[in-house]
Amino acid sequence: MIGASISRWTMSYFAAALAWLFVALALMVAGVGYPTAHLASPDTLVLVHVVCIGWLSLAMCGALFQFVPVLVARPLYSEKWALPALGLLTAGLVALLAGFLGLGGRLPAWLWLLPLGAMLLVAGFGLVVVDLGLTAWLRPQGPARFVLVGLASLCATAAFGAIFAFAHAGWAGPVGSSMLASGVPLHAIAGLGGWLTLTAMGVSYRLLSMFMLAPDVDDRKSNVTLAAGALAVAVAVVGGVLAIWLFSESTVVLPVVGVLGLATTALYGRDVLSIFSTRKRRQLELNTRMAVLSYASLAGAALLGVGLVLTGTFAAHLGAFAFLAVFGWLSGLVLAKLYKIVAFLTWLETYGPVMGRAPTPRVQDLVAEARASKWFVIYHVAVWLGTVTLLAGHPSAFRAAAAVMIIGLVGIVREVIRTRRLADVACPLRFPEGACAPHLLCARN
Ligand code: HEM
Repeated sequence: MIGASISRWTMSYFAAALAWLFVALALMVAGVGYPTAHLASPDTLVLVHVVCIGWLSLAMCGALFQFVPVLVARPLYSEKWALPALGLLTAGLVALLAGFLGLGGRLPAWLWLLPLGAMLLVAGFGLVVVDLGLTAWLRPQGPARFVLVGLASLCATAAFGAIFAFAHAGWAGPVGSSMLASGVPLHAIAGLGGWLTLTAMGVSYRLLSMFMLAPDVDDRKSNVTLAAGALAVAVAVVGGVLAIWLFSESTVVLPVVGVLGLATTALYGRDVLSIFSTRKRRQLELNTRMAVLSYASLAGAALLGVGLVLTGTFAAHLGAFAFLAVFGWLSGLVLAKLYKIVAFLTWLETYGPVMGRAPTPRVQDLVAEARASKWFVIYHVAVWLGTVTLLAGHPSAFRAAAAVMIIGLVGIVREVIRTRRLADVACPLRFPEGACAPHLLCARN
């Protein structure tokens, strides 16, 4: 990452994403959406999109604005688009959520808010995809390929979502209505599997090797993993749409997608193990140890999925499976990496300009890992307990688990803010001559 310019708005994306995560957890504690309400209820749609767009997609976009230029060793196509994209995504999400609340009768039923929100979201994601896509396209190798497949999946997700939103408002004709009736699993797979999971996998290859001083995964190996993942998304999107067109339902493709998804997870596990076994840094930093907890959740979700399918109870426990995958695997990994990325960028921003001219602290001096680790552990244990309460069908115990997740998250966010404020850096090294204090919510450049 040294040598790459610092993305000005990455911190702003992270801050907005964390704020939405708090909103999501507060809704869960308040009993809004699943498991108190049905999985397909408007309240659950609110919760799902606060998590998927507000938290995970914004955090991922913020990380990608910093990382895609590093992955391809080229500057970002346009730094200027990042902030308007954040504005469009936030406005679009608010309109979409208001539309969902209208569907559920919590607000007046202004269903035009759904297409309006969809258009704003398509515009915001469009700016992100074009900006990152044109940057990654210049050198589509290794992890950058995962990002390209992730961005293509995001396009498919947004296209499905927009069709559903127009269909809810009655503006999408019979084709839109049949997509809405049968296409929701395809939208969910493209979003959670293609966009979020494949992109997280790609970025994690580079981050793990960078922070553990390990050689990059052999491109031939990671290409097989990517091929399996891309095929899973392609079968879901193309095969699913064909199935809806031919048989008016998409479930026929789901077993194939499930097997390919499982194969992708196993191949990714093999790649990650090879990074761990070839690392030069024996002592693992907190972000890597906490990433291991998210890998445990990924493996747990895969095993749970297989177990539920074999016992014929997958549909009944879909919520528990999705909860473990979204909060244990994806959110756990994003939180662990966000903790390190904030420290690294803050260090680069503050001490990069004076390096060599004055004594500077190490990146690790910006964090207090011993203090921070308990908050991550609390968060992960709460997620696992939450999964058990969902499987056992205890909504009130689930709300208690969500409250404990908030406690863990408050602790993590407090640590991140301390890092940004350089609060843990010992005084003589804190501000060498010529160094400026970073802003909390955006980079100075
Ligand atoms: C342009 C952006 C998006 C729009 C307009 C949109 C819109 C929608 C709509 C209208 C539905 C409801 C379908 C129904 O009534 O059953 C839906 C469901 C869903 N969306 Fe999105 N969506 C968008 C982006 C995303 C993203 C990025 C993800 C994940 C990463 C996602 C995940 C889901 C999931 C999992 C469901 C199913 C929820 C459930 O049945 O409880 N969406 N989306």
